[in-house]
Amino acid sequence: AIVSIHVSRSDRMSNMNVGVVGAGTMGQGIAQVLASSGVNVKLYDVADEPLERAQGSINRGLDRLVSKDRLSESDRDDALARLETTSKLDALSDCEIIIEAAPEDPELKEKLFRDLSALSREAILASNTSSLSLTRLAAVSERPERVVGMHFFNPVPVMGLVEVIRAEQTSDDTVKRVEQLAEQMGKTAVAIADSPGFAVNRLLVPMINEAAFLVQENAATPEAIDQAMKLGANHPMGPLALADLVGLDVCLAIMEVLQDGFGDPKYRPCPLLKRMVAAGHLGRKSGRGFYEYK
Ligand code: CAA
Repeated sequence: AIVSIHVSRSDRMSNMNVGVVGAGTMGQGIAQVLASSGVNVKLYDVADEPLERAQGSINRGLDRLVSKDRLSESDRDDALARLETTSKLDALSDCEIIIEAAPEDPELKEKLFRDLSALSREAILASNTSSLSLTRLAAVSERPERVVGMHFFNPVPVMGLVEVIRAEQTSDDTVKRVEQLAEQMGKTAVAIADSPGFAVNRLLVPMINEAAFLVQENAATPEAIDQAMKLGANHPMGPLALADLVGLDVCLAIMEVLQDGFGDPKYRPCPLLKRMVAAGHLGRKSGRGFYEYK
């Protein structure tokens, strides 16, 4: 019975076209999970090079699932057949939902929201932003009631949550449709109002910032702090290893959003975190953060 329910759901949504804007870490993961959930995916980025990198990493991600017997070879091939990469934004004009996962640059995102609004007046525009106000993004689009946040977590194929962020203008129908899409992707959706940091980052990133203060004070080594939180709080990875995974620039940007948004000094970013970002030590993606990566 469970299998037949799953099949009928995939059938219902199998002709759905979903666009993903931005082929970075988050966009790749979102596109991979969408394609393996029976949705037609168009993954857009500005140039061929990031798209080729994304395609390679999606191929490897799906192959890994096949090698673990969690995906059959034919399902992998079907997923790959449902995925199209494109460097033309126009190609997304027939998408019912477009998930924007571009870099966290407010001007870039606002421009994208204006351009995407012009492409199709019907599509739901969902942003994976981790720090910007959805209400502001909705205001620059021409259909604010169909703008919403779909905030995924890194690594996307593994993490079970999608925060569905409701802008002031978002309609109930929009929330319902993205909740259905999240469910189709095998994720649990938690709805939350548009407020700085939403729920997860408001709790998680101040913890990371506090861990950076411990390092700055030479209270303990990064290894010791991470060991303490793994064994003392049962976190799967310590806060500093997590900071390196998320990106120190992203962590800093979220602290700044919390500080600006609430005007509360308790959210002051750790000076060490600021210095590391200024030095280009951004974590795994730059090869060095609190730890070194080869
Ligand atoms: N892509 C796909 N699968 C991955 C993966 C990746 N990048 N990394 C790990 N996995 C898979 C592994 O293949 C493995 O799968 P199986 O169980 O099927 O074998 C599983 O995840 C566990 O991986 P590992 O055994 O290698 O290592 P682990 O047990 O330490 O798990 C982890 C790794 C999943 C990253 C885990 O440490 C974890 O959950 N860490 C916390 C991650 C987290 O908190 N993310 C949220 C960050 S905040 C954010 O993203 C929001 C924001 O806006 C900043």
